[in-house]
Amino acid sequence: MRLSDLPLPDAATRRLARLPFMAPPSPADTNRRVLITGGASGLGLALATAFLERGDRVMIADLAPADERPESIPKDARYVRLDVRSEEEWKAAREEIGEVWGGLDVLVNNAGIAQGGRIEMLTEEDWRQITDINLLGVARGCRTFVPQLKAQGHGLIVNTASLAGLVHPPTMSSYTAVKAAVVAISESLRWELEPFGVTVAVACPSFFRTNLASSLNSSDPAAAGFASKLIDRSERGADEIAAEIVAALDLGEFLILPDPDARKSYRGKRLLPVAYTKTMTEMGRKFAAATGRG
Ligand SMILES: NC(=O)c1ccc[n+]([C@@H]2O[C@H](COP(=O)([O-])OP(=O)(O)OC[C@H]3O[C@@H](n4cnc5c(N)ncnc54)[C@H](O)[C@@H]3O)[C@@H](O)[C@H]2O)c1
Repeated sequence: MRLSDLPLPDAATRRLARLPFMAPPSPADTNRRVLITGGASGLGLALATAFLERGDRVMIADLAPADERPESIPKDARYVRLDVRSEEEWKAAREEIGEVWGGLDVLVNNAGIAQGGRIEMLTEEDWRQITDINLLGVARGCRTFVPQLKAQGHGLIVNTASLAGLVHPPTMSSYTAVKAAVVAISESLRWELEPFGVTVAVACPSFFRTNLASSLNSSDPAAAGFASKLIDRSERGADEIAAEIVAALDLGEFLILPDPDARKSYRGKRLLPVAYTKTMTEMGRKFAAATGRG
C-alpha cells in the first residue's frame, strides 16, 4: 500500500494551517516584488509564471550567468545569477533588487536538489552538498533579506520544503533531514517575525514532474532510481502545484500541502499511526528485498 492510499478522505487539513485570529493577506495586494531562487526550471519557474499572472513583479535567480539568461524564463521576469551557496551572490542580488525595485516584498527560497541513498552509501560529500544548497541556501536567503523586511514592517517568506520534510520514507535520509530542517526554520521564523509584520509559509508538496531527478547523486544508483521514478511518473506537474501554493498564500496559510497525496500522507501519519507504521515498514522491506538484502 502507498502512503497516500491510507484510508482517509482528502479533508481540509489546509484551512487549519492558518492562524484564525490573523487576517489573511489581501489577494488584491498585487504588484509585489518577488524573488524566486531556482526559478529557471520546475516549480520555481511555474511559481514565477503564477506570480506574474497574479499581477506581481518577479525576479528569477538561478545558476546561469546573467548574460546567459535561460530561455525558459518569461520575458516579463527579471533574471539574476544567484548560487544560493554564495553569501556574496546573495548580497549582490540584494543590491541589485535595491537598485531596480527599492526593496522586496516576497522571498521564495525554492532552489534545491534531490538526493537518494541508503545511509551507508551516502557519502559525506553528498551530505555536505545537500545541506549547503537545500538547507543553508534557505538560511542564507532569510539572513540576507530579513533585516530589510523587518525594517519595512511587512513581507512574506515562502520556503519550498517537501512532503519528505514531514513524513520520512526509507532510503532518503539526507533529503528528509534537510527538508525537515526547512520546515523547522519556517516555523521558528513564523513566530520570530510575526511581531514585525513579516509572514512565513512553507510548501510541502509530494512528488511532481520536473527536472529534479537530473540532480540525483550516483552514490546509490538503486535508491536514486527509486526516487527518480517517483518524480518522473507523478501524475502532477509543477504548474498545478504552483497554482495551489499561490492560492494558499493568498489565504494566509502557513503549512501548504498543495496536493491530495501530501495532505493524505501527512494526515495518515498523525491520525493513523498503526497504518502509517505498517506502510513505511513495508516500503523499507520492499526496497531491501529488491536490492538483494531482504
Ligand atoms: N519535483 C518534486 O517532486 C519535488 C517535491 C517536493 C519538493 N520539491 C522541491 O521543489 C524545489 C524545486 O525543485 P524542482 O522539482 O522544481 O526541480 P528542478 O530541478 O526542475 O528545479 C530546481 C532549480 O534549482 C536550481 N538550482 C540548483 N542548485 C542551485 C543553487 N545552488 N543555486 C541556485 N539555484 C540552484 C536549478 O538550476 C533548477 O533551475 C526544490 O527545493 C525541491 O526539493 C520538489
